[in-house]
Amino acid sequence: MPQRVTRTDAELLLKTLHALFKTRALYPPGHGAVQKAAQALDRALVDVFQTPDPLLLGVADGYLVVGGVAFLGDNLQARELGQRLEARGLEGVLLLPTVRSTDLAGFLEWLRAGEAQEWENPRVTVTRLNREGEAWARGRRLHLKAVAALESVCRDVEQGRIPDPTHAQECVAGLAQLLDEHPTLVRGLTLLKDYDQYTYFHSVNVSVLALGIGRQIKLTDPELECIGIGGLFHDIGKTRTPVDVIRKPGRLSINEVTLVRWHPVYGRDILDQMAGLPPAVPRLVYEHHMRFDGGGYPGRPERAPLHPLSQLIAVSDVYDAMTTHRPYSAPLPLPVAVQALVEGSGTQLEPAVVRAFLSMMGPTPVGSLVRLASGEAAVVTRIGDEGAVNEVRLYSTPAGTLLAEAEQLLRPVGSGDVTGWVTSLSPRIDPFKAVSSGR
Ligand SMILES: [Fe+2]
Repeated sequence: MPQRVTRTDAELLLKTLHALFKTRALYPPGHGAVQKAAQALDRALVDVFQTPDPLLLGVADGYLVVGGVAFLGDNLQARELGQRLEARGLEGVLLLPTVRSTDLAGFLEWLRAGEAQEWENPRVTVTRLNREGEAWARGRRLHLKAVAALESVCRDVEQGRIPDPTHAQECVAGLAQLLDEHPTLVRGLTLLKDYDQYTYFHSVNVSVLALGIGRQIKLTDPELECIGIGGLFHDIGKTRTPVDVIRKPGRLSINEVTLVRWHPVYGRDILDQMAGLPPAVPRLVYEHHMRFDGGGYPGRPERAPLHPLSQLIAVSDVYDAMTTHRPYSAPLPLPVAVQALVEGSGTQLEPAVVRAFLSMMGPTPVGSLVRLASGEAAVVTRIGDEGAVNEVRLYSTPAGTLLAEAEQLLRPVGSGDVTGWVTSLSPRIDPFKAVSSGR
């Protein structure tokens, strides 16, 4: 266990460490000022290390923590060192009691120089920020927040109030920002499903997928905002469809189909009343069931063009609906759903949008259950830019026995390692967890 120190000792260590950092920036190593700073640091180390335990310098949310004592951003020395550590992608530096100022001078020099070479010294060891793991956790939180924001908007509509979309818009902006920083997250974030709240989860997934396609075809930020919000609200008109029709298992009667087909019209009318939305959003929602070839619903005059962005929502909607478990249908395996989009290209769906979707997700998307040439079954966890699978998480032995959780390891794979997809393996397998955990 790293040792905890008093605030006085932590301040002393921070002050002398920072002084050495500054003097080394100004003077050559043999200069008197540097030697004086090094001696002061050595004396501080003797005072601070009262036990044989190591001492941890950590960075968390902009705070520097020295031996368990937190320094906020108003401490300039802590702020400067904390920023240097973060800039090198470090979240912790562990100092052994045998550490001396010469070790730390070398470390501070490495910190300042920013060279690609890894730092190595057994008396000063570093731990790196788990940036990908953090991004997945952030994605999950944002997804759940967006679900809650949408639920609240829908409740307002159901109770006859005009909703304020601000919170939902903030959620979409957060998702857009996350995908800007971590574009590959779009491939796994839509694996989040919830049968009981499938409409809300589906709507957030449509928003995420549409944002992903939008990035792929290099839309502007205002256009991304439009499709993110349009995706989130695309089925808001269903709040006016009787719930027993929405949740009915099996085939709908002709009357029920007619009722359902009003939802894009209701959606447009609801969104028209809401203040602060980008002006194109009601139209995107109105057109999300219109087909590329002129069919679909609501009907439109022959050759009337679609809004250039509405097919991004249509493609995302069709894909996520096919891969989601709903009262009337089981989800399709992800590669089958991609194939169905390709088959609908040029008739139901706009080819350029399907192409962008395919290059984003690949023919065997992240989350697909696959069989390897070795006979083992696995979940796809990463694909390359060209769409080829390059990493999986193993779930079964070649003989078909499910692996225990500790044995479900990530494995890099190359071309030819994946021989096909499988329909189902075990209901206990959570594709989102397969993709996001252990990063
Ligand atoms: Fe819809």
